[in-house]
Amino acid sequence: MGSGECASNDYGAPAYWDARYSSGAAASGGGEFFDWYQTYTALRPLLRAHVPAASRVLMIGCGNSLLSEDMAKDGYEDIVNIDISSVVIEQMREKHKEIQQLTYMQMDVRYMSFFGDESFDCVLDKGTLDAMMCADDAPDGASKMLAEVARLLRPHGIYLLITYGAPTERVPILNLAGCGWSIALYIMPTPEYELKMSKGATQPTMEEVALTEDGQLPPDYVLKDPESHFIYVCHKLAANGANCRDTDPEETSSAN
Ligand SMILES: C[S@@+](CC[C@H](N)C(=O)[O-])C[C@H]1O[C@@H](n2cnc3c(N)ncnc32)[C@H](O)[C@@H]1O
Repeated sequence: MGSGECASNDYGAPAYWDARYSSGAAASGGGEFFDWYQTYTALRPLLRAHVPAASRVLMIGCGNSLLSEDMAKDGYEDIVNIDISSVVIEQMREKHKEIQQLTYMQMDVRYMSFFGDESFDCVLDKGTLDAMMCADDAPDGASKMLAEVARLLRPHGIYLLITYGAPTERVPILNLAGCGWSIALYIMPTPEYELKMSKGATQPTMEEVALTEDGQLPPDYVLKDPESHFIYVCHKLAANGANCRDTDPEETSSAN
């Protein structure tokens, strides 16, 4: 996945991910770990700024990324990790059995009724909405997932989305879930671009970009790296304490 394109794989199918995590090939995410898009080191300044270490965090579609492990090592106290692949959940549960801050559960992000309303301070998503947008049931599955995410967040909680999807593709689906979000956007060049530009010593850069009123990039904005990643810091608005599922999407406005 990348640059707005879905490959022919069904990224929404558990069988696809189980096979991938069983394969043992690191480059395809089947090795001991594989981090999509960005690492904790690059994301740390943003995470530390928006997500206090005492937060209860839900990592959706955790895969075998190092993100949760690195966050726990950096002081995060409570990270619940879920993924649709039972293969990767078993692997990660075994790998991290000594790290008490991390728990692992096999679960579909579209159906998270196991968790009560408003039970998390932060939901972290690196690449999972992207997978859902490439699934056979897109965009309905993605929309169900986002409604669940909003239900699980406390008022003013944060959905932090790391994606290849530009605002033209992602803001409409965020709003479709029938929730009010206040969205701050950050843009990060890919590690490959940073490496090329710095000729060796990489220093990840991240730029906050003010969205227009309708949630888009300013018309004259030019991406430094056309393959850049987009980080949406979405604050759940506490509109009427509403569960997003109960809200008519027509009536919901986003405050960008
Ligand atoms: C692109 S990978 C990202 C993995 C990890 N977050 C990372 O940053 O490296 C997408 C992950 O979403 C998981 N996934 C796909 N559909 C899912 C669903 N319906 N429910 C839960 N997890 C799902 C896949 O198993 C996979 O681990």
